[in-house]
Amino acid sequence: MLVLGLESSCDETAAAVVEDGVRVRSDVISSQTEVHARFGGVVPELASRHHVLNVMPVLQSALDEASVTLDAIDAIAVTRGPGLVGALLVAVQVAKAIAYARRLPIVGVHHHEGHLSAVHLAGAGRASTDEEVAAHRAPSFAHLALLVSGGHTSLIEVRDHGDYRELGRTLDDAAGEAFDKVAKLLGLGYPGGAVIDRLARTGDIHFLKLPRPLPRKEDVNFSFSGMKTWMLNWVQQNGVPAEQKLADVCAAFQHAVVTSLVSKTREAVRQSSVQQVQLSGGVAANSHLRAELRKAGQEDGFEVFVPPPRRCTDNAAMIAAAGYHRLVRGERAPLDLRAEATLPLPSRGARESAA
Ligand code: KG4
Ligand code: ZN
Repeated sequence: MLVLGLESSCDETAAAVVEDGVRVRSDVISSQTEVHARFGGVVPELASRHHVLNVMPVLQSALDEASVTLDAIDAIAVTRGPGLVGALLVAVQVAKAIAYARRLPIVGVHHHEGHLSAVHLAGAGRASTDEEVAAHRAPSFAHLALLVSGGHTSLIEVRDHGDYRELGRTLDDAAGEAFDKVAKLLGLGYPGGAVIDRLARTGDIHFLKLPRPLPRKEDVNFSFSGMKTWMLNWVQQNGVPAEQKLADVCAAFQHAVVTSLVSKTREAVRQSSVQQVQLSGGVAANSHLRAELRKAGQEDGFEVFVPPPRRCTDNAAMIAAAGYHRLVRGERAPLDLRAEATLPLPSRGARESAA
């Protein structure tokens, strides 16, 4: 089954063609980073307008790169929420228009379910090769997911495709938000997570000793606002550092965030006695987090699955993968499918609205 995925929940306009939920035939992402950078964050109205400008060229590129036309597409999967409602609306409207004109089935996908499905896609590039499809291994069910993005941080028991239970979550900022706010504080621009990651490579993780949030061991929630405030106070007292000292500050801050993420994940593995953990969401692209979680897995005896960095940040291939499993289960959304700014993560226990 060839699924066309569409995503426009924040500042990436993305389209992808995915075969049977595994083989990426094309994966096109148009980022608006440059549009929003000078405002220090995503400006919702600008995001909507740029999605409108970009969505058709991105969609056409995805079809061209997959060497198909809409005639070959079997179904459409689109992110329906959560996200910026004006941004979400763009891909939702395009998806509905194609579905109506072509009489194609359509499903709405929860953005986080998309992130959790990235691990099922073969390969690391814009298209999977035969070798990558043959060699691909995904975690089995149930497994644990550490989902860390710009707007969300949680530990989730993934019981099956489309069946999730949240075990813990951030009580304040998301990890990506903390990275971005501290990067801004250090004059590193927006979004700064990837910049901190790069600078931290030559820094000393012991340069600063940040507070450790939620020290109670059994607590598998997160909190990052204390670290952010601590960094703000440090910069106010010491000024914005430069060169090696900047690298050291980045390394120490990043290490504090990563230590918190990894220690709570270890505890959640102990509590739920799963043997496999997937790391997903934009912050999963962080090299220190990837390495530390793998190290913890080796020490504690759990297997770690991490999508390639390209599939950790927002993309439409992950939406097509999640949509495929919904379509296979017979799910179809009506043509009055709506974009939702907030949306609970789906669980089979709860009654899901198809719209
Ligand atoms: O999943 P995503 O693309 O968008 C949301 O759904 O939020 O995540 C974006 C977040 C941003 O906060 C960005 O700074 C962070 O992911 N990020 C990183 C790295 N790459 C992206 N954070 C730390 N290290 C990175 N390498
Ligand atoms: Zn995302």
